[in-house]
Amino acid sequence: MEIESKKVNLRAMRLDDAGHFVSWLKDPDISRFINAHGESVEAQRELIAQALNHHDTSKIFSVETKDGALIGKTGFFIDKKNSNAEFFIFIGEKKFWRGGYGYDVCKTMWDYGFKALGLHRIYSDIAEDNVPIKNLWKKLGNPGKIEGKKREHFFYDGAFHDAIHIAILRDEWLKSAPERKKHTSE
Ligand SMILES: CC(C)(COP(=O)(O)OP(=O)(O)OC[C@H]1O[C@@H](n2cnc3c(N)ncnc32)[C@H](O)[C@@H]1OP(=O)(O)O)[C@@H](O)C(=O)NCCC(=O)NCCS
Repeated sequence: MEIESKKVNLRAMRLDDAGHFVSWLKDPDISRFINAHGESVEAQRELIAQALNHHDTSKIFSVETKDGALIGKTGFFIDKKNSNAEFFIFIGEKKFWRGGYGYDVCKTMWDYGFKALGLHRIYSDIAEDNVPIKNLWKKLGNPGKIEGKKREHFFYDGAFHDAIHIAILRDEWLKSAPERKKHTSE
């Protein structure tokens, strides 16, 4: 399936995306703040195949520009019984950073999660020093709440780093639309 938004198309992953994912994850600027798995093309192909086989709980998409350039990956790992999902995003092609793609992907995914999938709660663990995603969250109207700190949750740059656990409830996302408009030209 494919989801179209203003700046991106979110399409089902393909096995031949594996090479892109591997090269992105080799860059610490990308991998530092995410749970990166699959260091070889073969391992990535295996992960893609597994996700496609479990499409009811792994809603993972390749992110393409409107011109069809593959620039990133996003998704939900869904807990169906409890109607919640862990969310992740990365724009792997760094030359596209600050182009508004991350904003569009988050907004589109959260709309999709809450409205189409009927999720009740979407959450992420964000490294405390991940300034870009914190600012992006703010630009989206700061929906949800910081629910706590995960001590030394991430390991990168040779040390353990704390994470904040942040979650959005469906009502909070739907109500935050006016706040979003204030910060953007949406
Ligand atoms: C976080 C990430 C997805 C942002 O993607 P992006 O396409 O560059 O984001 P956008 O262009 O939509 O930026 C939206 C807002 O986020 C904030 N932002 C993005 N990059 C930033 C940076 N390097 N420094 C400070 N703020 C930043 C800004 O507020 C920006 O709005 P502005 O450009 O009007 O000032 C991207 O940097 C990335 O993939 N990082 C590595 C992986 C990662 O950290 N993922 C999140 C894990 S929880």
